[in-house]
Amino acid sequence: MEIRIFEDAASLGLAAADIFAQTIKNKPSCVLGLATGASPIPTYNRLVELCNAKEISFADVKTFNLDEYCDLPKDDKNSYYTFMHENLFNLVDIKEENVNILDGNAADAEKEAADFDAAIKAAGGIDVQLLGIGNNGHIGFNEPADAFTTGTFKVKLTESTLQANSRYFDENPMPHYALTMGVGSIMDAKKIVLIATGPAKAQAIFNTVKGEVTPQVPASILQQHPDCVLLLDKAAASLL
Ligand code: F6R
Repeated sequence: MEIRIFEDAASLGLAAADIFAQTIKNKPSCVLGLATGASPIPTYNRLVELCNAKEISFADVKTFNLDEYCDLPKDDKNSYYTFMHENLFNLVDIKEENVNILDGNAADAEKEAADFDAAIKAAGGIDVQLLGIGNNGHIGFNEPADAFTTGTFKVKLTESTLQANSRYFDENPMPHYALTMGVGSIMDAKKIVLIATGPAKAQAIFNTVKGEVTPQVPASILQQHPDCVLLLDKAAASLL
């Protein structure tokens, strides 16, 4: 794992966006794996700027998002569908048919998950995957567990994740289930960029980098990825 430490979230966002912009420049029809949450917002802001400045174009880019809540209307303000459109897709020249977000309301969740994995494969695999990390070490919504997960699946969210994310849910109650890419799907990405900011992530980052590889800290498996970079601010890196 390569580790790069930044002064603040803004400079980290510029560096993360630079990796994605270079990928798009080198391969205009690349396949990007994307994340939601607070961490990637500066990265997406910068990618929008670069697209507006015509330095990059998403015209041939395909995207796959890590996860989506179940039992939440697609257009709810807290759905990841809404998040991605508000923070990136509506602001760049991507084609909607190239955007892949799991349908958390699919009647057959298993089929939805299998179709998603098949679509990633058909697209040639993910060139670069962006990840945030949960306070409990989760990646995507792969929560601490007894075994590493493989492909996309439906997951029951843990108390730690419900507590971390419930602040966003003032209208509808926070869903207790989500669809998520599995740890195996994430590890299949050719390159992984994990971003973490703030003191609440420091312990999870320590466990990810210095701890043993264990499904109790899902991100720890990234130690075994051949091309993984961690972009951290000083607070997130404070225990290293
Ligand atoms: C989001 C996702 C989650 C978040 C993680 C950190 O698509 O997969 O694993 O990356 O919960 O969230 P923030 O960035 O809000 O701290």
